[in-house]
Amino acid sequence: IPVAPFVLTVFGATGDLSRRKLIPALFHRDLDGQIPDNAVIIGVSRRALSHEEFRAFAHQALVDHIPSGQLDGSPVEKFLARLFYVAADADAEPGWSDLASLVAAQGDMIPVYYLATAPALFGPICEKLGKHGLAEKGRVVIEKPIGKDLASAVALNEQVGRIFPEERVYRIDHYLGKETVQNLMALRFANALFEPLWNNGHIDHVQITVAEALGVEERAGYYDTAGALRDMVQNHMLQLLCLVAMEPPHSLDADAVRDEKLKVLRALKPIDEHNMASVTVRGQYRAGASAGGAVPGYLEELGSSRSQTETFVAVKAEVENWRWAGVPFYLRTGKRLASRVSEIVVAFRPVPHSVFGEAVGPLEANRLVIRLQPDEGVKLWLMIKDPGPGGIRLTHVPLDMSFAKAFKVRNPDAYERLILDVVRGNQTLFMRRDEVEAAWTWVDPILQAWRNAKEAPRPYTAGTWGPSASIALIERDGRTWLEDG
Ligand code: BG6
Repeated sequence: IPVAPFVLTVFGATGDLSRRKLIPALFHRDLDGQIPDNAVIIGVSRRALSHEEFRAFAHQALVDHIPSGQLDGSPVEKFLARLFYVAADADAEPGWSDLASLVAAQGDMIPVYYLATAPALFGPICEKLGKHGLAEKGRVVIEKPIGKDLASAVALNEQVGRIFPEERVYRIDHYLGKETVQNLMALRFANALFEPLWNNGHIDHVQITVAEALGVEERAGYYDTAGALRDMVQNHMLQLLCLVAMEPPHSLDADAVRDEKLKVLRALKPIDEHNMASVTVRGQYRAGASAGGAVPGYLEELGSSRSQTETFVAVKAEVENWRWAGVPFYLRTGKRLASRVSEIVVAFRPVPHSVFGEAVGPLEANRLVIRLQPDEGVKLWLMIKDPGPGGIRLTHVPLDMSFAKAFKVRNPDAYERLILDVVRGNQTLFMRRDEVEAAWTWVDPILQAWRNAKEAPRPYTAGTWGPSASIALIERDGRTWLEDG
């Protein structure tokens, strides 16, 4: 079903996000017939380009990111014909009135401004949009990093908020657009099975792993100012934690969902210099091996021997409320780990008593595993009887639902869903200002405690599961990281 006609202006249109994600996502939606015929996409950046040159740039982005079979014939031409280009600089006047005229010439369409730029430009761009009368009905889309701590996030939100009211600000966390992440809500709230068990009476602990096999590569400049806690935990991983831990919202209304997520963020047990050493581990990769062969360490990639930025972090988080008291949420994420795998493991408590006696060995507890990537799917681990006429022998096996096998459709990229949700005016999968700030409120004291401790991150060899201290972090509690659900 097509959305309402829109005019989408992408700032930073010749940048990496636009090339790798936004242009291919818009093309896919167009291919599926979801973009109305008269919708228009305007690219803006500082480079002087003609409309034709920008179309050639976009065409190349499609060639690089879309399987070639889908690029034949008229759909590409139709998509490229929607594209226009204006050269403008956030800090200078030229170009802005051209942009205003081009947007006005589209008539009564929903104006969306996607700021795919460095965050330092969010404020200046919003100001210019306001000044040129473009903000009135417009929606603005921004993306992380939204600040590097609470104070800078508040300042950034203020700058944007001076021009756009909160109900027209869309803060993207692309993890919320991932199919399996949305499926988490479906699993929890469309099945009667899980909710009665979804509490500390039945759940022993939760693990959230977002492991990447790649290093920082050409993003080292940005990454070194951020580190894994800011880059992945403050946003993506806390959002996943919220979706697991939140109370059932009364509907999928944006504020109903976001109110519940906010309560979780506010219930996170503070981590500061008193408990930092026992519940967090920072790591940094050294040279090692990946599937493709030998790979350099972080410092070599960065070209500096001094950085103390963490490329791995493990945290034992706790949600201090009735539902979750005593249930740890173990989070870990890192670059150059043993494989690329992101999953959420909900580990249930063991049965209270075994009727099977010693002979069958220990009973393994049930686990629900939500695999975000790759091989998206859901597994529910159960104990069953080994087939055969002998006595009872039990074994742990998964009920395994692979999305690729169950549904023969292409798995859409997160941006496809999210961009069109902006046009639909649906903020459910976007972060509200108070959520972002609550997440920083929890993260800031961790960063502060690390700074005070002045300890270097623990080294780990590229291609492993991170520093051994992260294994000790969970094993101290008598538990273990579950590498494959
Ligand atoms: C980004 C981080 O937000 O998410 C990157 O800045 C990270 O460092 C990326 O690689 C991971 O996203 P995905 O969708 O590949 O899991």
